[in-house]
Amino acid sequence: MRAPPDQPWFVTDMIRVASDMWTKGWDERNGGNVSYRLLESDVAPYLEGWTAASSPPLSKALPEIAGQYYLVTGSGKYFRNIAQDPEANLGVIRIGVDGRQVELLWGYRDGGVPTSELPAHLKSHRARQADTHARVIMHCHATNLIALSYVLELNSANVTRALWEGSTECLVVFPDGVGALSWMVPGTDAIGDATAELLRKHSVVLWPFHGVFATGETLGEAFGLIETVEKSAEMLVKIVAMGGARQTISTQNLIALARRFDVVPMPEALALDGWRLADGTHDLSNGNVSAPVQAGQD
Ligand code: 13P
Ligand code: ZN
Repeated sequence: MRAPPDQPWFVTDMIRVASDMWTKGWDERNGGNVSYRLLESDVAPYLEGWTAASSPPLSKALPEIAGQYYLVTGSGKYFRNIAQDPEANLGVIRIGVDGRQVELLWGYRDGGVPTSELPAHLKSHRARQADTHARVIMHCHATNLIALSYVLELNSANVTRALWEGSTECLVVFPDGVGALSWMVPGTDAIGDATAELLRKHSVVLWPFHGVFATGETLGEAFGLIETVEKSAEMLVKIVAMGGARQTISTQNLIALARRFDVVPMPEALALDGWRLADGTHDLSNGNVSAPVQAGQD
């Protein structure tokens, strides 16, 4: 039998996407984390050469994903360095048969551990696996989405509607919309539970003043989804900075798009009449409270 390549294809793919994410400016310092569910057939050629070590256990057992393998970015590791030294910055883990133990099979060479957002990743994998073929959970600090979260009224329907109006392809790429969380402390089971719950309905979740979580069947798909949502956010940041929309994509336009591309848009976002900036009650900067602004038109 031919020996497998020294560097597994899934490490090569992770290096590419992590480097692209860093180039986009979404992953400053150690910002962001990615997990990729590996199949038995992916790891089989390498298992013999790996020795299992234990990593800190999960605080809550996830029996539904017991025995599964994940390639995960390391906590505190810089995306910028992944290509240069994948074995120090990435790791392959297996969830123990009890759904709680974490076995480290490869990587984290300098004594590292998986991302501090591992609960959010694994709970989201559990949520998405139930009825999709999702294998990737991707978190990053997408610049314009973070900026937008300071001015948009933060509810899932409004955020989705704004991002659909940010450019024409958006409704087609994320018809199930963007879930919007309240601000929460990162790296906790609580934010993991809340994120996974929103990911049941949406393929993207906004963490206000922090970043975004997205899912996909492949690394490329999750990346492309964030790229699309972030591009729309960039448009909206420019639009708000230019004084607000004077004209926009209408509800009728959105319905026509959904028909042409055979997608079912999130009903609560389609039912809105445009999108709103926050009324200022959550303004933490200087106490300025601005009147609600109705942007867009139908
Ligand atoms: P980690 O370095 O632990 O992955 O944390 C980065 C981050 O973005 C937390 O939300
Ligand atoms: Zn983060």
